[in-house]
Amino acid sequence: MSDKNDNVKKGPGTTVVTSGRKPDEYFGFINPPVYHGSTILYPDVATLKSRKQRYTYARRGNPTAEALEDALSELDGGAGTVLVPSGLAAISLAFLSVVRANGHVLVTDSAYEPTRHFCDTVLKQLGIETTYFDPLIDGASLKALIRDNTQAVFLEAPGSQTFEMQDIPALAAAAKSSGATVIMDNTWATPLFFRPLDHGVDIAVYAGTKYVGGHSDVMLGSVTANETLWRKVHNTWGSMGLASGPDDIYLGQRGLRTMHVRLERHMASALEIARWLETRPEVSRVLHPGLESHPGHAIWKRDFSGSSGLFSIIMKPGPDEAVAAFLDDRAYFKLGYSWGGYESLIIPFNCSKYRTATTFEPEGPAIRLHAGLEDVADLKADLEAGLERWREAGGGA
Ligand SMILES: Cc1ncc(COP(=O)(O)O)c(C=O)c1O
Repeated sequence: MSDKNDNVKKGPGTTVVTSGRKPDEYFGFINPPVYHGSTILYPDVATLKSRKQRYTYARRGNPTAEALEDALSELDGGAGTVLVPSGLAAISLAFLSVVRANGHVLVTDSAYEPTRHFCDTVLKQLGIETTYFDPLIDGASLKALIRDNTQAVFLEAPGSQTFEMQDIPALAAAAKSSGATVIMDNTWATPLFFRPLDHGVDIAVYAGTKYVGGHSDVMLGSVTANETLWRKVHNTWGSMGLASGPDDIYLGQRGLRTMHVRLERHMASALEIARWLETRPEVSRVLHPGLESHPGHAIWKRDFSGSSGLFSIIMKPGPDEAVAAFLDDRAYFKLGYSWGGYESLIIPFNCSKYRTATTFEPEGPAIRLHAGLEDVADLKADLEAGLERWREAGGGA
């Protein structure tokens, strides 16, 4: 039995459903078995010595992992993918695959905050300096920041929490013309809405914890590299022993099969809520690149084919009590970190404290929302009740 359809032209939704499947290897079962294990037996000394056995030791790969790795590589058009135990592990692996002692990296000021922490601690200890740059910089200005020892440029679009849209093709071209490797955190868009490698990025990193898993029940990350960087990424992954557990990997591949359908709903609900919030007097600004009012809308429209469920709002000025009144006692938008699961989430944020290349001093409290898969009318009613509490507690309108 064959499930091969590599040569057939297909849409990304079909790829999500069909990629990485090998039923002929699993007695016809459509999904891979969950291989729990460490030891893999060899039939004889000759095979052991030949080093040709397909699986050698479970830290270096097993069929459950391979099914998801193959699927993610196909989705992104990459040369290969490795799975790691979290999104942050994917980010640190990407960096460690390309940096060398006494090097230098350029990181967008809008990167996910733990990415900065990794650079400011682990990379610093290795003698690697980090320069943060304005996410809205153009290619020429980025090039001017590149030094002889610059080894990597790290991009993220839209930016974490603040949703700046970067001109990825221009920045990637500038970095590569100076010999730096381009890494991008593409967790927000997923390969369904943006394929980084097609736009000049060398290494795409993902928190599989978010939309790949999709059910808030897994910690997982992935790193997909192009032909040039794949060996380096794979070797570094192997050297660091970054194997993920088979149950989490299985949940990742199970989540992946419905990612396109879930994302359509996240996209539609988030856009409807974002448009409605734009009309609300309590809200000063909505930060969602899919909105025409967003300063990066033209870039988003040019490069991305969709938007996910995560966006932010800046409220009119109001006291802390009003923020608490808005966020507490919610029916559906529950207070919690992470996003990308089936459920709606809400969280206040303040990135003014740690940004260094740019200032983010919003006119009112900043709040991030994730539109989940609940009925959008219920989500709007939940927010409407919160906005009423905001006003009653002295929040501006
Ligand atoms: C954009 C982005 N990248 C990476 C991560 C890290 O993922 P994980 O929590 O799986 O380490 C997150 C988590 O919130 C994120 O928002």
